[in-house]
Amino acid sequence: MPARIIVGAQFGDEGKGKITDFFSAKMDFVARYQGGNNAGHTVCVKDQTFKLHLLPSGVVQKKHLLIGAGVVVDPKVLLEEIALIESLIGKIKLTVDARANIIMPYHVLLDASIEGKQGKIGTTKRGIGPCYSDRAARIGIRFEDLVDEKILREKLHKVFSIKKKILEAVYGKHLDFNEKQVLKEYAAYGKKLRHYLGDVSTILDSALRQKKRVLFEGAQGTFLDNDFGTYPFVTSSHPISAGALVGTGLGLRKIENISGVTKAYTTRVGEGPFPTELHGKQATLLRKQGNEFGTTTGRPRRVGWLDLPLIRTAHRLNNFSELAITKLDVLSGFKEIKICTHYKVGGKKFSEVPMLSKDFEKAKPVYKSFKGFNVSGKEKTFSRLPKEAQNYLKFIEKNTGVKIALVSVGAKRNETIPR
Ligand code: IMP
Repeated sequence: MPARIIVGAQFGDEGKGKITDFFSAKMDFVARYQGGNNAGHTVCVKDQTFKLHLLPSGVVQKKHLLIGAGVVVDPKVLLEEIALIESLIGKIKLTVDARANIIMPYHVLLDASIEGKQGKIGTTKRGIGPCYSDRAARIGIRFEDLVDEKILREKLHKVFSIKKKILEAVYGKHLDFNEKQVLKEYAAYGKKLRHYLGDVSTILDSALRQKKRVLFEGAQGTFLDNDFGTYPFVTSSHPISAGALVGTGLGLRKIENISGVTKAYTTRVGEGPFPTELHGKQATLLRKQGNEFGTTTGRPRRVGWLDLPLIRTAHRLNNFSELAITKLDVLSGFKEIKICTHYKVGGKKFSEVPMLSKDFEKAKPVYKSFKGFNVSGKEKTFSRLPKEAQNYLKFIEKNTGVKIALVSVGAKRNETIPR
């Protein structure tokens, strides 16, 4: 099947937006299959840089954009992003699946409230978790409901008083919106968005049968997967490659390429284990050189050395056909660079992420050191990269068993080296 899935091999923010933009030039459709506006990608249009959260990165290439059933949609954010992009590049082609769940104002308020009460996850506070919880509890409002005022009224009426009680009684919150106001506001969003309603599953099935090219754009990363990530420090959806089919409504089929995207080092936003995390001067330098601050929340990202047990585990979970390494240039200037080859937990060696969280929390990284290198972004081929950088990349290939197909050496589209 002429399809490609792009998945983050780490904790999100791997630079998938740039890789998606690179591949989407040759695609007919770009689909998002999970997550919501907790994601963030930076796109450049006419020398201007924008941060998008919900629309697929393929928007810049003017592809048919699909938002699958597995995505949670904040209609206000969607309308804002459509307006912004259309003011720059003209009309976009977008289909939102009828089954996608809608993020409501009480989800956003609950997200912030739960954080305080149930222990810290460090969520983006965009209402993602509470919205997916309602989907699983079968009390969610879906896109098909949003665009039909009568159904929206009925569904909202069923849940609103319950959410209000929970927010007030359990979390001591005061709601500055009532049911009538929410209905009015969301029915208006529904009217504006109605013409995007469609069946992503049917569109994709027919596209793939006609050998059209489809790119599935994962948001977040493998270790934020609700089941296979570092639970409970995860998001509420399935970024891993299998999520692409579940989240768009496609039966199992052979996918031509599954690209795992990883930075040349590691970052993480929010709480949770991070064995190779750096602190002090080295961390400050890496964060500064990589501009490691969250696209969605602006939070400084935690930074550390590349962690191969993570990448090996990600390969098992996603079945990568190739790796794309991003931000290699950011390592420039370090005298010594390290790669974690495996972990030690109480004298036992682990070459992948341990099954038990209590072991992962205690994992001590074992490193291999590399001589530093300077990458300017001007290198156009692999062989033009400094020898030390080539060695660094070859070591990753050899020790993960996945070939590197792309190396990104700068933020610009042309600062990408195919291998
Ligand atoms: P949520 O997805 O907002 O519920 O947040 C759950 C966890 O996932 C938190 O640790 C967030 O920081 C993290 N997270 C969510 N979206 C992203 C992303 O796009 N990049 C990196 N981390 C993310």
